[in-house]
Amino acid sequence: MKKEIQLQSTFTEYDDISDLPEQDRLLVAEARKSVGQAYAPYSHFQVGAALRLENGVILRGNNQENASYPIGLCAERVAVFAAGANYPGIRILSLAITANSNHFHVNKPITPCGACRQAIAEYEHRYQQPIRLIMVGESGKVLVADSIQHFLPYQFNADDLQVKTS
Ligand code: THU
Repeated sequence: MKKEIQLQSTFTEYDDISDLPEQDRLLVAEARKSVGQAYAPYSHFQVGAALRLENGVILRGNNQENASYPIGLCAERVAVFAAGANYPGIRILSLAITANSNHFHVNKPITPCGACRQAIAEYEHRYQQPIRLIMVGESGKVLVADSIQHFLPYQFNADDLQVKTS
């Protein structure tokens, strides 16, 4: 016996940032501020993230590169780790991501890399709280997903290790 399993991911696309709900728009503005503070002297690709916690706090993160290239960290992980470090136990509700490049115009949404998908999934699982993802470029359409699940089906998480997190 065999069966085919088909999974579905759902995203919402907006033509413009002005079409977003206000809370999302504000978070995108924060992510854009964060882009300007990125440290990306090697790739010249600056990524900014901003997340909203359930207590209303907004935290920013941006990519932090290193002369030893692989140890640099993406904006999304800087942001979610800052939340985990400074606000343990406080759920993350939403995360906005954007990017600029010194070499070209980023005219489409920037989506989290594979490692960041896994890191974001950890916090969804930890708090049993879907994280809304709002992704934009410097211009162009806006992509929204209401959970990292849509980017990472069959995710590996603490359930597979049979351990409890909090
Ligand atoms: N980067 C991020 O910060 N987030 C992503 O989701 C994709 C890539 C960073 C890593 C590196 O500093 C630069 O963008 C180029 O890959």
